[in-house]
Amino acid sequence: MHKRKKRAILLILIGISLLLFAACGGDGTEEVTSVSPAETQAPSVETDVPTVEDTEEPAPVLIGDSLRGGLLYDKWWVPLGLDEPEGDHPLWASQTSNERSGKDTWRCKECHGWDYKGVDGAYGSGSHMTGFTGVIQFAGGDANEVVAALQGADHDFSMMGDQALIDLALFITEETVDYSTLIGEDKAALNTDTALGETLFQDTCASCHGPEGLAINFKSTVSSPEYLSGLSGGNPWEFLHKARFGQPGEDGMPSVLDEGWSEEEQGALLAYAQSLPSENLVTQGGLMYDKWWAALGVDEPEGDNPLWATQDSNTRSGKDTWRCKECHGWDYMGVDGAYGSGSHMTGFAGVFSAADMSADEISSWMTGGENADHDFSAYLDDAAIDMFVAFLQEGMVDMSSFVNEDKSVNADASLGEALYEQACARCHGDDGQGINFGDEADPTYAGDVADSNPWETFHKAANGQPGEYMTSGFNMGWSIEDIFNIVAYVQTLND
Ligand code: HEC
Ligand code: HEC
Ligand code: HEC
Ligand code: HEC
Repeated sequence: MHKRKKRAILLILIGISLLLFAACGGDGTEEVTSVSPAETQAPSVETDVPTVEDTEEPAPVLIGDSLRGGLLYDKWWVPLGLDEPEGDHPLWASQTSNERSGKDTWRCKECHGWDYKGVDGAYGSGSHMTGFTGVIQFAGGDANEVVAALQGADHDFSMMGDQALIDLALFITEETVDYSTLIGEDKAALNTDTALGETLFQDTCASCHGPEGLAINFKSTVSSPEYLSGLSGGNPWEFLHKARFGQPGEDGMPSVLDEGWSEEEQGALLAYAQSLPSENLVTQGGLMYDKWWAALGVDEPEGDNPLWATQDSNTRSGKDTWRCKECHGWDYMGVDGAYGSGSHMTGFAGVFSAADMSADEISSWMTGGENADHDFSAYLDDAAIDMFVAFLQEGMVDMSSFVNEDKSVNADASLGEALYEQACARCHGDDGQGINFGDEADPTYAGDVADSNPWETFHKAANGQPGEYMTSGFNMGWSIEDIFNIVAYVQTLND
């Protein structure tokens, strides 16, 4: 049975016993003092509060969903489907150390911390510091007091609705834990059972995050990517909070508390996540092969690439002339491949044979050492060049045996369907129409791109979309065949 159900039953039992207790007159016998309200003795004549009625009616037992409360502790407006809060939270002005503004100032975690300890915890220093108190002192406490705190003058969250406040209060009183039993001073997991963590991760998380936690990049750029490894190492409290309660707005992501995981299992998960690789230069290079400035999050290049003037068949201009793919093709074959004719033709050679080059040779090509006009060094630092080296050496695929003359694909669409549902549908929709790359009058959907350009679709399904959180098929651990199966399935959409 899931923990959530057990808890609801427990609450009902407590509720019944309190009702019985109240019905019996609440005379405060030894046997029931543990569940009775603080004041069980009849008040002495000197004090007029609490009244006799108060002692006979214990504070109501709040029934709700403490796990949903944990989700609300983050960006509560997302799961509640409310508009983003506007302006700064009223209490924000009472501090000056945290320079964020707007909706972020309304997240419980921004003021009280992922470790629930506020100024006494991880947010006691650094850019998130506010100096505000934590909430963990309410662990095991009275949820009614927390609800009251959420209805205070400048600390009023009633716009969330009563049930949300109750869920938050139950989260704080029942689910906040002191993570120092799981996380050491240096942020490393104290549990070292990475073998247990691996089993748990591969069974529960890998279907979306990939076997190495690299399928989803939370920061969307390749220059400082953030995968599960980096997040769990840099902010193990956030990692555990999100693993325990889920991610707002991502209904598919499980809550490990809901799955009934023990603290030991949570600690092992953290240890394993911290042991995962922090990046994959191959797919990061693949993203840069597309629009490297979008992948890096830097300014767009200006004017035409100096080599552009050596051809006149492709009439594009400006930043497009700086994309690797524009000169070398989505199939990496340049004039010998799909860009051997049509409006993208330049006549330039492909890069497929560069897979055999040494890192030094590739790096020399990227920095003008081989051809002074083939120089990207003004834009690319060493780390970015390393990504190109990795991609050119290991990431290029010979697509010729998969794509037919008529652009149909030699692959199994029915096998691709399941993978599409797993990794693409949450953004592109079951019907492929979740994102329109064109405009309203002339929509372009993933299915259209797959029909007209299976090479591009493969490259993007394998590496991701620059500057977006799009899943990378290679980082899902999928084979070339798997990814072509997806391309084949996407071709069947919106026919
Ligand atoms: C803008 C910062 C800010 C945000 C956002 C915020 N709080 Fe607070 N919270 C405070 C401050 C400051 C106090 C202490 C107020 C006081 O002492 O009057 C406080 C007090 C509390 C208390 C009582 C603590 C005590 O020891 O009395 C609880 C419980 C609490 N907050 C929960 C929450 C929850 C749950 C959320 C999200 C819905 C939230 N807070 C959002 C700043 C914030
Ligand atoms: C059904 C798919 C799915 C599963 C299964 C899943 N996640 Fe997620 N997870 C997501 C999505 C989608 C995001 C949000 C990415 C974003 O915000 O861009 C996410 C975000 C996260 C984040 C927050 C990253 C951030 O910076 O906000 C953490 C941590 C996380 N997942 C951990 C896990 C762990 C641990 C597991 C296994 C216990 C897991 N996830 C299972 C889909 C999933
Ligand atoms: C404006 C067109 C253009 C763009 C943009 C461009 N290249 Fe080139 N690239 C060329 C041409 C032309 C050559 C051959 C030059 C020569 O032989 O001197 C070449 C050669 C190469 C070579 C050597 C290939 C071999 O087998 O000898 C590599 C590697 C390479 N480019 C990688 C890239 C990468 C990676 C990018 C993206 C950052 C890129 N190129 C962007 C036009 C371009
Ligand atoms: C997190 C959301 C998300 C997921 C998951 C996702 N995509 Fe995307 N995809 C995007 C976004 C955003 C764009 C860019 C839209 C734009 O440029 O207007 C995009 C663009 C594309 C494009 C290129 C369209 C173009 O012409 O530039 C293709 C093809 C594509 N996605 C296929 C896939 C496939 C296949 C999967 C699954 C392996 C997938 N996507 C998963 C969000 C996602």
